[in-house]
Amino acid sequence: MDIEKLQRFNSAYVGDYPFLQDLGSEWAQSRPLAGLRILHNIPLTRETMLKLEPLYLGGADVTVTHLELPGLEPKEDCVDLLRDAGATVELDHRRINGTFDIALDCCAQVPAMENVNIERGYVELTQSGTPIYSELETDLPVYSLDLSKLKCLEGMFGTGEACVRAIKQFVTPDLDGRKIVLFGYGKVGRGIARYLARENVRLTVVDINATYLDQAAAAGHKTLKSARCQELLETINDAFAVIFATGHPGLLQSLYAPSEIADNVQLINMGADDEFGDDYPANRIVADKAPLNFLLDSPTTMFFIDPIFAAHNRCCQNILSDDAHGFTALPAELDLPFVDAWSRRYGIDVSDIYY
Ligand SMILES: NC(=O)c1ccc[n+]([C@@H]2O[C@H](COP(=O)([O-])OP(=O)(O)OC[C@H]3O[C@@H](n4cnc5c(N)ncnc54)[C@H](O)[C@@H]3O)[C@@H](O)[C@H]2O)c1
Repeated sequence: MDIEKLQRFNSAYVGDYPFLQDLGSEWAQSRPLAGLRILHNIPLTRETMLKLEPLYLGGADVTVTHLELPGLEPKEDCVDLLRDAGATVELDHRRINGTFDIALDCCAQVPAMENVNIERGYVELTQSGTPIYSELETDLPVYSLDLSKLKCLEGMFGTGEACVRAIKQFVTPDLDGRKIVLFGYGKVGRGIARYLARENVRLTVVDINATYLDQAAAAGHKTLKSARCQELLETINDAFAVIFATGHPGLLQSLYAPSEIADNVQLINMGADDEFGDDYPANRIVADKAPLNFLLDSPTTMFFIDPIFAAHNRCCQNILSDDAHGFTALPAELDLPFVDAWSRRYGIDVSDIYY
């Protein structure tokens, strides 16, 4: 692997990413991952290239793949650059086989790879993979980054901002006064609500959690419980768009058949699963069911996602040095200290993440 090719590519990146840069400088010196076989499965984007650099500098032997989700394609220039630099890249999960030390995973897709054996541990990046890893029968350490305040920072700021940017770019530039229904008022949903409110959208929040619905109402949004009923159907059919951010596969199908939803309602996914279900064909959903922000050149602005990417990588060292066994949250030293450092650096008040 010609790391210099990757570094030249990354040097053209416009944006701030101090957490990954610090990690790269540190690991280039200490080489803590020398010879470590890492299977890297997250969406392959321009930002992911910045995340890969410290792994190579740390000495890891990385196999790069791409998250498999309907409608979600890897960025071609990134695939080309990695192949040209001699990196091991295999985009087809069925063709990945062999033994790896660590899986840096997203949506718990690595345990489903039949010909892959992981020997040292797993690190899961997002909510959708967390329930699967929590039930994985293994003594190996399994870190879920979703169980952290740092992940709230990504969801409530980065993903929310990216969602609204993507809607304006791909759906409509004019959101003023539009009615939107939002399923899910967790980390990602709150971020979306925060940024939609700035566009003067008339928002209805739908969730199963009564406390979260009270919090949405206190923030000035209409609210409805997530259950099949006429009021929810009418609200959906009266809306310009419905956005899904629950992490619940097949949610819409479990509530309403495609024939019940008016054709002019834009259906948008922001979750990392197919939240509509197989009854809804991909072409009925904006972006063919892909999380909409992944159509953007930058699916999440780097400075929001930089600390969580750095933490995902850093967990490799925890796996190597720790005697942790089984499923656990992001290690504490990578959570609040990272949140505080980020907040201080950019002067952004993040108190809303402590809900
Ligand atoms: N697009 C992106 O860039 C991006 C980034 C981070 C996470 N994600 C994905 O977004 C999804 C949501 O992640 P999160 O971190 O906000 O999760 P979360 O657990 O913080 O929030 C999920 C919310 O959905 C609600 N919910 C669950 N079942 C529901 C149902 N049947 N009806 C209505 N509401 C329901 C929960 O009560 C909760 O409020 C996941 O799939 C996650 O992997 C996407």
